[in-house]
Amino acid sequence: MCFSLMAKFLILAILMGSAAHIQVSSLHFNFQSFTEQNRNELSFDNSTVAKSAIQVTYDVRGAPITNQSGRAIYKDQFQLWRDNKNVKATFSTTFVLNILNQTAQPGEGLAFVIAGNKDLPENSEGQWLGIVNGITNGTNQSQIVAIEFDTKKSYEQDINDNHVGLDVNSVYSIRQVPLTRVNLANGTDIKVQVRYDGQNITVFVANMETPLLSEPIDLSEYLPEKVFVGFSASTGDDTQLNCVKSWAFDGSDIGGDSKAFRVLIAVLVPAVVLLAGVAFYCWRRYRARELDDDIEGLINGTNLAPKKFRLKELKKATGNFNPKNKLGKGGFGTVYKGIWRNKEIAVKRVSETSRQGKQEFIAEVTTIGSLRHRNLVKLIGWCYERHDFLLVYEYMPNGSLDKFIFYDETNSGPGEVTLNWEKRLSVIHGTSQALDYLHNGSEKRVLHRDIKSSNIMLDSEFNARLGDFGLARTIQENLKTHHSTKEIAGTPGYMAPESFLVGRATIETDIYAFGVLILEVACGRKPGNQSEQNSYNNSIVHWLWELRRKGRILDAADSRLGGEFSEKEMECVLILGLACCHPNPHLRPSMKTVLQVLSGEADPPVLPPERPSFVWPAMPPSFVESDYTHTGSQLDPFSDLTGR
Ligand SMILES: *[C@@H]1O[C@H](CO)[C@@H](O)[C@H](O)[C@H]1NC(C)=O
Ligand SMILES: *[C@@H]1O[C@H](CO)[C@@H](O)[C@H](O)[C@H]1NC(C)=O
Ligand SMILES: *[C@@H]1O[C@H](CO)[C@@H](O)[C@H](O)[C@H]1NC(C)=O
Ligand SMILES: *[C@@H]1O[C@H](CO)[C@@H](O)[C@H](O)[C@H]1NC(C)=O
Ligand SMILES: *[C@@H]1O[C@H](CO)[C@@H](O)[C@H](O)[C@H]1NC(C)=O
Ligand SMILES: *[C@@H]1O[C@H](CO)[C@@H](O)[C@H](O)[C@H]1NC(C)=O
Ligand SMILES: *[C@@H]1O[C@H](CO)[C@@H](O)[C@H](O)[C@H]1NC(C)=O
Repeated sequence: MCFSLMAKFLILAILMGSAAHIQVSSLHFNFQSFTEQNRNELSFDNSTVAKSAIQVTYDVRGAPITNQSGRAIYKDQFQLWRDNKNVKATFSTTFVLNILNQTAQPGEGLAFVIAGNKDLPENSEGQWLGIVNGITNGTNQSQIVAIEFDTKKSYEQDINDNHVGLDVNSVYSIRQVPLTRVNLANGTDIKVQVRYDGQNITVFVANMETPLLSEPIDLSEYLPEKVFVGFSASTGDDTQLNCVKSWAFDGSDIGGDSKAFRVLIAVLVPAVVLLAGVAFYCWRRYRARELDDDIEGLINGTNLAPKKFRLKELKKATGNFNPKNKLGKGGFGTVYKGIWRNKEIAVKRVSETSRQGKQEFIAEVTTIGSLRHRNLVKLIGWCYERHDFLLVYEYMPNGSLDKFIFYDETNSGPGEVTLNWEKRLSVIHGTSQALDYLHNGSEKRVLHRDIKSSNIMLDSEFNARLGDFGLARTIQENLKTHHSTKEIAGTPGYMAPESFLVGRATIETDIYAFGVLILEVACGRKPGNQSEQNSYNNSIVHWLWELRRKGRILDAADSRLGGEFSEKEMECVLILGLACCHPNPHLRPSMKTVLQVLSGEADPPVLPPERPSFVWPAMPPSFVESDYTHTGSQLDPFSDLTGR
């Protein structure tokens, strides 16, 4: 797994390295005309696209077009030079101008611009042609080189009102050529080509054979590495329509960054990615180990901590969690049978999606791990490795109790052995001893919180072993008086009616679930649905109260027993079960009392003739009418269980 992770990082690193190699930076485009579709490739400053052309000054908005300037720029920058000006780009651009005078004299002019800043300068109308303004004119900060198509002689230095000039950081051209055959502003299309070979800038107007203007210039002296290209124009008191009807640009590729930089990137990027991968991997290992230590510390802090297993060992024991070895699937994971040191074991693999996270895992290891009782499933060990939580128990060859007591269990075929009454009594007795031990016998008070027939395991002699402590909670000795924990948990059908109101597990809710359990065992009937508060319809408890009201409580006995049971014992168990399921938690017997009744030391509780209704808040016994007490003898106690 770690190898594949590293391989992925390596491939990613190589890919990123090559991507850095092929990164380019050139500029090529070709606008045959300007439309709504391609206008988003340009950025406009007091300028627009209309009538299939760039209106470099915004001529179409109805406002007067005197004293206007505008600029339209291609959205992407062009890499003009790099490597300390050792590498310089070349370009060639061709465009068609159309300028039409709106006054007797046209004004002022249009220009192709190469600029460090794409923004139109404020107050760049009139003589400034949208190139510079009175402040930036003649300064290095302008960072602009322009080919001007000047239609007005604005000042003395302009040779005439129909010329082409090369402007550098100024509207005062460093070179200007008058046009003789071409009238710039009479509305004819004028094709222009501007070429730059890194040394000379050359301009062709109308005639593509003979340059009109060619001037040595090092653009890198005036312009930054990356430049914008486009057009600017202006009007003054005299006005004209400044249009560009088509535009193509071809810039050479000198690469986005210096060669040295690219090599550096090509080496550095994969290295960084690789390093990050290694760091991530190490971090995960570290975290996993930290968590391991964390859990180990918590678990070892408890006395009688069970053995810590290696994941390898458990994989080997279970045939790599072979589905053939699957014993069952619970809410918290899957249980597999395994062979470890010639001993049969049950390995619960807590599923990643289960609610039983780290906390539950630790709870189970530390609670059950420190408990010793012959009616508890023994936890042999645990394992936490690479997010796998595993618990190792002693193997229970007869599986869980529910398989033996329910009629309609799909896996109980006709040949299935059902438990006789003697074995059932033994199971009830064993379970109550286990629960008494949890509640009263160990140094910490433990709530099981999920007592049900599928959590009672049967060993080879069908002795009951209470298991699955996934929901168990310990209560510190000094807090024993509270004997309750937060959170509702458990299985519908086994949950006391007040659970939903109290919102927590208590000693009494455990006893309620125990009551349901012993009724199941006696009746061979599923607990039914009593999850809704105050509604016992369809539940075993409700059904039994009904039979009792009719004086036919013994009809509840599992018919599979074939009547082979002591009626006194059966009635005692049924009454005890009903008492444990009393709607008033205060009136449920304690596990001590339950044990005394089962062993014959005490009489079974006396129950009212009809099912008491559920009242909340429940009153302690002294406030309850005297139709129910713990004293008084109605049935003979068991005597045959003590000597078992
Ligand atoms: C245009 O600007 C010039 C110079 O600032 C100014 O003299 C002229 O009045 C302006 N024209 C209009 C129509 O605003
Ligand atoms: C544009 O200039 C021409 C002469 O070059 C002139 O005949 C025409 O009237 C001018 N147009 C306007 C609108 O003044
Ligand atoms: C753009 O035009 C508006 C309205 O004519 C004007 O107020 C603004 O100053 C112009 N922007 C520039 C940069 O000239
Ligand atoms: C504009 O700049 C040029 C230098 O490029 C300078 O000669 C000229 O006087 C300036 N014009 C104005 C009006 O400032
Ligand atoms: C402007 O550019 C010139 C030549 O490129 C240089 O000599 C001068 O120092 C620059 N001025 C500023 C203020 O950067
Ligand atoms: C514009 O001027 C040129 C050159 O003077 C001329 O050949 C052309 O016919 C004129 N076009 C218009 C529409 O006046
Ligand atoms: C640049 O133009 C000059 C003349 O203006 C010429 O002598 C030179 O050879 C040209 N350089 C290139 C590279 O074309």
